[in-house]
Amino acid sequence: MDIADIRSRFPILERKVYGKPLVYLDSGATAQKPLPVIEIVDRLHRELNGNIHRGAHFLAEECTSMYEESRSRIKRFIGGDERGEVVFTSGATAAVNLVAYSWGEAMIGAGDNVVVSEMEHHSNLIPWQLICERKGARLRMLPFDEQGCLRTELLESLIDGRTRMVAVTQASNTLGTRPDLRTVIDTAHARGVKVLVDGCQGVVHGGVDVAALDCDFYAFSGHKLYGPTGIGVLYGKRELLDAMPPFLGGGDMVDRVSFEGTTYAPVPLKFEAGTANYIGAIGLGEAVKFLSEFRPEDIEAHEHALLERAQRALSEIDGLRIYGTCPDKCGIVSFNVEGVHHYDMGMILDKLGIAVRTGMHCAEPVMRHYGVSGMCRASLAMYNTAEEVDALAAGVRRAVGMLR
Ligand code: ALA
Repeated sequence: MDIADIRSRFPILERKVYGKPLVYLDSGATAQKPLPVIEIVDRLHRELNGNIHRGAHFLAEECTSMYEESRSRIKRFIGGDERGEVVFTSGATAAVNLVAYSWGEAMIGAGDNVVVSEMEHHSNLIPWQLICERKGARLRMLPFDEQGCLRTELLESLIDGRTRMVAVTQASNTLGTRPDLRTVIDTAHARGVKVLVDGCQGVVHGGVDVAALDCDFYAFSGHKLYGPTGIGVLYGKRELLDAMPPFLGGGDMVDRVSFEGTTYAPVPLKFEAGTANYIGAIGLGEAVKFLSEFRPEDIEAHEHALLERAQRALSEIDGLRIYGTCPDKCGIVSFNVEGVHHYDMGMILDKLGIAVRTGMHCAEPVMRHYGVSGMCRASLAMYNTAEEVDALAAGVRRAVGMLR
């Protein structure tokens, strides 16, 4: 991959912060946007804006066809086949909540249980906690070990005749761990249990083939996949989506409406109540088109080389601990340095122009596992360089020198 060329297509990477070149290592929180995404969002607002699925005029029809084309493109990108469908949501959080409320309302009852892994970020934990509380069901936790590897061998013992769902990440936003989803899904399916995979970090680090994976639901956010904010995707097997009751009610999700009763539009529109974020959805389609110019294995190899370089350089720093050293992890490095608060570290790195995330990363159980109040996290993307990784290591050394 020609990284210089890739970087030239992400205009924000040229900017300076505090007079220093931006070193953006927070793509796990949100990735930067390539020109085609910026341009289509701009063009839609300038030239093409018309509400979808409602108007018979030129703008409305143009936007509707671009929206549906984007849906098809995203489905191809995630490997969806005719057994599944893509529903647009406002993000991964909304997608998981949709399943937890709609599917959960119909399928989870008192005395049932849901298994969630210990490494989930809050988006794939709280929605399950809420439905379990409402229904009198139990939440069971699938733990990870000290290296940050998910203990998938324990899943069998957590599943019983009352287990309804296993919710697990494709890649941990904090540890970078990519759990063995084959084992998780086969183990759950062998007992007739459904599986929801949170693909927020997985879809951007290595991609996905939902049909081969055979997961029942798959959720991800657009903004972490180089697309706009406020748009996300729920992929679900059609027979499950068909059987689920509507979640939000409103325009566009209906067939016939009267005060006596309402019938609903078929999937996916049944779950897209109100005016959709069609500009975000079309922008996400553009992000996927941009990504399709590259081979996923090339992006993966580039990020892996950067990850190894970062881990090697950081490990040489006295008192620095990396959390998450499971083999086959993705481009995420979380760390702390003995005697240094993660916020202080983040603040000094920021003043050097280096953007990392600090805090709990919306994954408080992971912090509790290691007994820390937070961590610094560098998350890598296709546009990062070896020089930026070296700048991070040098910045951490400098911060340690100042703070100790
Ligand atoms: N969950 C997002 C992150 O990992 C926001 O930073």
